[in-house]
Amino acid sequence: MAEHLRLGLNVDHVATLRNARGGIHPDPVEAARLAAAVGVDGVTAHLREDRRHIRDDDMRGLKDVGLPLNFEMAATDEMLGIAADVLPNACCLVPERREELTTEGGLSVHAAQNSLRPFVARLQDLGIRVSLFVDPEVRELEAARAVGADIVELHAGPYTDATGEARRAELVRLREAARTARTLGLECHAGHGLTFDTVEDVAAIGDIVELNIGHFIVGEAVFLGLETVLRRMRALMDAGRSRCP
Ligand code: PXP
Repeated sequence: MAEHLRLGLNVDHVATLRNARGGIHPDPVEAARLAAAVGVDGVTAHLREDRRHIRDDDMRGLKDVGLPLNFEMAATDEMLGIAADVLPNACCLVPERREELTTEGGLSVHAAQNSLRPFVARLQDLGIRVSLFVDPEVRELEAARAVGADIVELHAGPYTDATGEARRAELVRLREAARTARTLGLECHAGHGLTFDTVEDVAAIGDIVELNIGHFIVGEAVFLGLETVLRRMRALMDAGRSRCP
C-alpha cells in the first residue's frame, strides 16, 4: 500500500486577490482555517522578497492555524530570520527572481552546494525540516542529498505545461525522479501548476507523499467555492493513489 498522499494548500493567491484592493479580504489565514476544517493536510505560503502576495504577518497567522506550515522562501539571510521567528514545520527553498511572474524553474542545487549546505543546516538547527524545489534531474537530487536536505519537491511545471506525448514523457521523468529521491533517502513532494486534469497521474506515483497546489485551487474556487474545490481535488488524488500497487 502506498503511503497517504498529503495535500498542501498554497494560499499565495488568496493574498494576491486581497492585495488588489489593499484591504483585508479575502484573508489567506481564513482560507487555511477552512482547509483545515475539510481535512487538508498542510498549508504552504511563499513570502517573496517583494511581498507581492503573502506578507510577514500572514506567515505568523498561518502558523497559528495549526496545520503543518510549509514556508516557501529564497535562501537569504532575511528569510532565515523570519523563519527563525515563525518556526514553520518545513521551509521549501526556491529560486526567486524579482521580475518573474511565478517560480520559473527548480533550484540549481548542484551549482550552489557550498552556500546551500550551511543554510540548510541553520534551518535544521532551528528544528525546521528543509525541502528543496528541484527539477526532476538525478544530478539535482544527488546534490540535494549532499547538502543535507530532508525533502525534495519536484517541479511539476514542465509536466503540467506539456500536452500529449510530451506530457507522458514528463510524467515518466517525475516518476523516475521520485524513485531516485526515495532511494537516496529523501522524502519526495511535487508541485506547481497542478489542476483537476493533471493531478491524478501524479497522485498515482507512490514515491510522492505530498502535493502542494495553489493557483488552480484558488482560481477554481471563484466558480465552485473553496470547500468544493478542495474536496474534488482530494477525491482525484485518492483516485490516482488507488492505482498504486
Ligand atoms: N510548490 C512550489 C515550490 C511553488 O513555488 C509553487 C508556486 O508558488 C507551488 C508549489 C504551487 O504552484 P501552483 O500555485 O501553480 O499550484
